[in-house]
Amino acid sequence: MSTPPTDFSTDFSAAVAAHVVRYGGSFFPEPIDRAQGSYVFAGDRRWLDFTSGQMSAILGHCHPDIVTTVRESIGRLDHLFSGMLSAPVVDLATRLAATLPEPLSHVLQLTTGAESNEAALRMAKLYTGGHEIVSFSKSWHGMTAGAVAATYSSGRAGYGPVAPGNLALPTPDAYRSRFVGADGEYDWQTELDFGFELIDAQSTGALAACIVEPILSSGGIIDLPPGYLAALKRKCEERGMLLIVDEAQTGLWRTGAAYAFERDGVVPDILTLSKTLGAGLPIAAVVTSAEIETVCHERGFLFFTTHVSDPLVAAVGCTVLDVLDAGVGAAVAAKGQRLRAGLDELATRHELIGDVRGRGLMQGIELVTDRDSKEPAHEIGTEVTMRCYENGLHMNVVQLPGMGSIFRIAPPLTATDDEIDDGLSILDRALSG
Ligand SMILES: Cc1ncc(COP(=O)(O)O)c(C=O)c1O
Repeated sequence: MSTPPTDFSTDFSAAVAAHVVRYGGSFFPEPIDRAQGSYVFAGDRRWLDFTSGQMSAILGHCHPDIVTTVRESIGRLDHLFSGMLSAPVVDLATRLAATLPEPLSHVLQLTTGAESNEAALRMAKLYTGGHEIVSFSKSWHGMTAGAVAATYSSGRAGYGPVAPGNLALPTPDAYRSRFVGADGEYDWQTELDFGFELIDAQSTGALAACIVEPILSSGGIIDLPPGYLAALKRKCEERGMLLIVDEAQTGLWRTGAAYAFERDGVVPDILTLSKTLGAGLPIAAVVTSAEIETVCHERGFLFFTTHVSDPLVAAVGCTVLDVLDAGVGAAVAAKGQRLRAGLDELATRHELIGDVRGRGLMQGIELVTDRDSKEPAHEIGTEVTMRCYENGLHMNVVQLPGMGSIFRIAPPLTATDDEIDDGLSILDRALSG
């Protein structure tokens, strides 16, 4: 017999205050009791979910094919001893490898994004013999020790030292960079060269890897300038470091391409996938080359976890790939253009919008009090979020200190044109005050 749910209707807030640990930002004000497609529901109220849950529910909520897979798998093949493999796990590895360029062929199936980055960092250290890790000054790679040490966008103060050897590279923020050439254009190459001058000055000669998001999401939807990733890969190669690309949010069609790194004609040494791979369920993957896999194995690579190679979520991952292959993935580019055109149009009418940026169905807008000074409009951002909430749109301000003026807009990839238009029109009204 299952335990009856807590009756929040009497005093939800008091129960939260009495028993729930606050783990970051404030909670959504309503208890959500149902989620379906592009919506989440609380009683008879509903909100368009333009954060796709925590940027994960790319097929909307409770997609019927995922529901079927979970129901079938839980009754047949749920979880195994970590040294046992099963067909769904090997199918998923094979299918993921088939979606990726050579030499990315070998897959380690894990559970969360932080965990996948942790494993990727351990691989890079073992493979190179180094331990120093470079990442962007506005990065977010997760909350476990290695991943958090490579995370600079927030949460560093108050927890004591991280592992030695973590070094920050300036985030290539085209809207706010101080690196502007005489022609007034953003000069990312000089910024990158400067960043590596600092890295080289600080390094003890033990550089292992550079880990980056192709679009920094928690950092404020900052898209790497075209050409940047290729130049970064060259910097890594010159120093014998590996390039790890963290596609937790951008992988599997979110940006209109199967993987965001494809735009730059660069293949990472290690790719990590997580949120989008499970479309709401906890699965992650590390993908690397046969060569790196072999060397690491020979050196005793260990990443033995409770849920490594779990069959149930592997089956879900395979279903996610099926649904994406059946047309959902290919439709993202056009939907992304629709969303972007709508946001660009809003920017022509709302002076508040200083910048619109992103790719595909991962867009961001930055609100400023004045377009010349680019002063961030944090308070107005909070008001606009509130008005969106009141009118049925959940589209969050990046919930980190100092980021209150940047909206992250990422509807499920299954969102219809009407839902995208509805979201835009709610945002329009919210911006109008
Ligand atoms: C780019 C990126 N990497 C890693 C993570 C961490 O994933 P998880 O929260 O599943 O550990 C996140 C989470 O927001 C992310 O955005």
